[in-house]
Amino acid sequence: MRKLHAVPLGVAAAGAATFGYASVAERNWFRLRRFTVPVLDKGKPSIKVLHISDAHLTPGRKRLMRWVRSLAALEPDLVVNTGDTISHPDAIGPFLDALGPLLDRPGVFVYGSNDLYSPALKNPLRYIWRTSKQDYARERRTPDLPYRELGAALTAAGWLELNNRIGRLKIGDLDVEFGGIDDSHIDRDRYDKIAGPVDPRADVHIGVMHSPEPRNLDRFAADGYDLLLAGHTHGGQVCVPFYGALATNCGIDRLRVKGLHRHNGAWLHVSAGLGTSPKAPFRFCCPPEASLLTLVPRTS
Ligand SMILES: [Fe+2]
Repeated sequence: MRKLHAVPLGVAAAGAATFGYASVAERNWFRLRRFTVPVLDKGKPSIKVLHISDAHLTPGRKRLMRWVRSLAALEPDLVVNTGDTISHPDAIGPFLDALGPLLDRPGVFVYGSNDLYSPALKNPLRYIWRTSKQDYARERRTPDLPYRELGAALTAAGWLELNNRIGRLKIGDLDVEFGGIDDSHIDRDRYDKIAGPVDPRADVHIGVMHSPEPRNLDRFAADGYDLLLAGHTHGGQVCVPFYGALATNCGIDRLRVKGLHRHNGAWLHVSAGLGTSPKAPFRFCCPPEASLLTLVPRTS
């Protein structure tokens, strides 16, 4: 009889230990990933691009904020934030504080759905057979987070908003053209507003979006963008050892849920993100991350 009781108790203890690890340890186990991306013409100077995404910041996430602040030591030439920045109405000030000196560097950003809508309690396992896009489509709430204020604060600091917009920045000696879209996950993407071939006079062309939806990736690549940056997937957030992500929560395939890959001739970097929804506060086999992309000439 004792042995029969020991089995469920053991399973419960293992489950509690795994949840504790995923919510307390791995969720704060921040990593910097580095990639080299050959997208420049021969002879052009390389630049460092810091890609951050999916902070889902709440004012209590002090470790996350400290780690983001430490990224300023990388001295990136450009910071790209691909959205889902806040998960609390009072998180804008803490996010700006976390960026600290990074705000003084050239930066661009787009929104993610979670910048507009406060987090709701959901079973993350259901993303295996559906995406949260259907929830948004059904519930279609009025935005209740201060995303416009977030955008205004970043813009006031000199960063470029790219929600369904084209932009251009001088980064070091490089002329960089950007095209960005708002979040396709909540049908706010309007690629038609930015559609058209890239300007060949620019040194490099970067497409920026929250969700790496293939129909938009196709259009960016067809228009000649060299590098596409996205977040949203959280790298799967809960992954299986030796198998990887179970779900991407959008149309991208499981094998490109994070990291650097190709898409129709363009380079695609998907960030696994810095945070999690406060309603699903755990990560397993998928540590939170930021990425430093060094753009170099194609021949090197
Ligand atoms: Fe997110």
